[in-house]
Order: sequence, then structure tokens, then C-alpha cells
Amino acid sequence: MRKALRALGWIAAVVVVLVLGALVYLGLAYPRADNPPEVEIEATPELLARGDYLFNSVTGCVVCHSPHEPTVAGARVIPGREGEGGPEFPIGSAGTLYARNITPAALGEWTDGEIVRALRDGVSRDGTPLFPLMPYFNFRRLSEFDLTAIVAYTRTLAPRESEVPERELAFPMNLIVRMMPGPAGPYPAAPDPASRVEYGAYLVTAASCGDCHSPMDDRGRPLPGRELSGGNPFPTGDGWVAHSANITPDSATGIGLWTRERFISTVRERAAAAGSPLSESTRLSPMPWIAYAGMTDEDLGAVYDHLRTVPPVRHEVVKFTREGAGTPQ
Ligand code: HEC
Ligand code: HEC
Repeated sequence: MRKALRALGWIAAVVVVLVLGALVYLGLAYPRADNPPEVEIEATPELLARGDYLFNSVTGCVVCHSPHEPTVAGARVIPGREGEGGPEFPIGSAGTLYARNITPAALGEWTDGEIVRALRDGVSRDGTPLFPLMPYFNFRRLSEFDLTAIVAYTRTLAPRESEVPERELAFPMNLIVRMMPGPAGPYPAAPDPASRVEYGAYLVTAASCGDCHSPMDDRGRPLPGRELSGGNPFPTGDGWVAHSANITPDSATGIGLWTRERFISTVRERAAAAGSPLSESTRLSPMPWIAYAGMTDEDLGAVYDHLRTVPPVRHEVVKFTREGAGTPQ
């Protein structure tokens, strides 16, 4: 008996040493991050115009990193507070994230390379790993021109001081998050806007449509075969839950019957209706209608052309349900 106890004691001690070793290893070896690239971005008017377009109308930077008018559908940003951070993103039992201040009041001391590294590799200036709700896995698929355009434009935001709470990540997410970032490698080639479907796919990645519209497993990875088929729940804070729509070309449950014209006009009309009295088509929704309405007809058309080519998935989504009513499947 005593022998057995002693053996157990040894095993426990070994386990403790192994776990401590693993924790120290995770702390030292992760996040994997290269030194920030040594770049100095020359902000030409052409680059700034592209950065303005992407930041405000495509890549969602302004949507996530600015406070919203809480009563207006389509994620309308409070004018004058662009980029000051603050929005809260609960991630279930894993904790809470807060979009950070990205105006020059906060990023002023960062080098261009440090901002590039945050957007592509997913580490903050001091090496803190960023949680991938900040879509660096998508942004690393942007061309060098587009990514540096966003960085250059970010520098031109009006500096605003703001208090953003520190994120809270519970064990084990506080360790798992360390393994997520990593060197993004070379920039992919710039897409050719003349190849509509390909360019549309590029915009859909840049706009992170899939992050909201693709059903995920419990580790946040898109379920294979169900990409863009919707149903992800977003509580809107007014007693309702919005569920992302099925935007695959399934004609019964997706947007298979939509024409290109209907797709483009829906984005414009939903953005214009945001702020009018709440109805079934103006209910609070996290879908960034207002930001995307800033996209050109050509670009929205390319998004549509790409969406026509993804596999159709039959998945009926009820877009708005009462809170507590459960998630319809
Ligand atoms: C879906 C919401 C979302 C989108 C879209 C988004 N961000 Fe973020 N971003 C976040 C969150 C949340 C954090 C904080 C992550 C954390 O604390 O782990 C963050 C962190 C950052 C950081 C690091 C700041 C710091 O102090 O460490 C930078 C820089 C940044 N974002 C810039 C951008 C830019 C530029 C864009 C557009 C190209 C963008 N973000 C798009 C949500 C978003
Ligand atoms: C922040 C999450 C989020 C992002 C990002 C997002 N959507 Fe949505 N989307 C939603 C939600 C939620 C709905 C359902 C509520 C509504 O209609 O506003 C929706 C609805 C839609 C609809 C309406 C479909 C219908 O049947 O009425 C279309 C079309 C759409 N999204 C396309 C897109 C495209 C294309 C992108 C990327 C360019 C995108 N969404 C990005 C959350 C998002």
C-alpha cells in the first residue's frame, strides 16, 4: 500500500513537472513571431484612396473598431469616433475581447512594420498574440498594395484618446491563443480585377463574409461543405437574435434566385433603410450593410459573381428570432 502511494506521488510529481514544462514552453516558444518587417510606407494619394476604400467599405476595420449607434441596423458608426475602439466581443466561456484604439493616439509610436505584422501575423507591438476574431488570417491574403494602403490610411485617422478595457481570456484559451499567430510569409500576388469571380473571392475574403456566414465547429473552424450557408447567431441586445443568412446559390434557402441587380440594390436599400423605424427589414443586425454600401457596383457585382460559384447548400435560416427561442437549424 505504502509503495503504491509512493508510486502515485512520483507520478503526480512527474505530471506537475511536465505540465509546468509545457506551460513554460508555451510561454517562451509562442507566439511564433518574426521581427516586424522593416518597411516605410510612402503614402501616395493613390495608396491613401485605396486604403480609405478598403478600411471603410470592405475590410470591416471601421465597423469593428468604432462605437456604433445602438439603435440603428446595419452597424452605423458614430460619426467622429472612427477607429477609437471599444466594441465588446464576448467569445462565450473563453472570455471577452475589446476592439482596440487604432487611431494615431494609440498607434502613433508603432512603426509601419509593427502595424503590418499585427494585420498579417497576429501579434501586437509588444508580442502579445491577438485573438483571430481580429481577422488576420484573412488580411494575410491581401496583396502588398492593399495591405500597405490600409496601414497608410490608418495613420490619417483623427487621433482620439479612449479607454479600452483589457481583454479577458480564461484558461485554457489564454494559452491556446499563443499558438494561433505566426509568420504569414510573402504577400500573395495582387488579384486581377478583370477576373470577376477570382476578384470577387478576394473581396469576400477581405470582407470576412465567411466569419459571420459560415457555420463553425466549436474551435471556430468553418464546417466543411457548409461554407456560407448561414445560421450563426448574433444577439442584438434588444431581445432579438439575428442569424446570418444562407448566401450560397441554393435556390430554395439561399440567394440562388437573386439577380446581380437585386444583390446590389439590396445592399444599397438595406443601408439606406438603417435608422428608419424597426421593421422586419430594418431590425437591428450586425450585417455591415452601411459599410458595404460604400463598395462600387463593380465590386459588389464581383462579390455576387463569386457567390454564384460556391457550392449551393440547402439550409433554411430564420433571420430573426426572439432571444431564448433557441437557434433554428
Ligand atoms: C471582426 C472585428 C474586427 C475587424 C473586422 C478588424 N478588427 Fe482589428 N481587432 C479586433 C479585436 C477584437 C482586436 C483585439 C484582439 C485581442 O485583444 O486579442 C483587434 C486588434 C487590432 C490591432 C492590434 C491593436 C493592439 O493594440 O494590439 C490592430 C492594429 C487592428 N486590430 C487593426 C485593424 C485593421 C486595420 C482592420 C481592418 C483591416 C481591423 N483591425 C479589422 C477586431 C477587428
Ligand atoms: C458581422 C457579421 C456579418 C458579416 C461580416 C457579413 N454578414 Fe451578411 N448578414 C449577417 C446577418 C446577421 C444577416 C441576417 C440579418 C440581416 O439580413 O441583416 C446577414 C444577411 C446578409 C444578406 C441578406 C440575405 C437575405 O436572404 O436577405 C446578404 C445578401 C449578406 N448578408 C451578404 C454578405 C456578404 C456578401 C458579406 C461579405 C461582403 C457579408 N454578408 C458579411 C451578418 C454578417
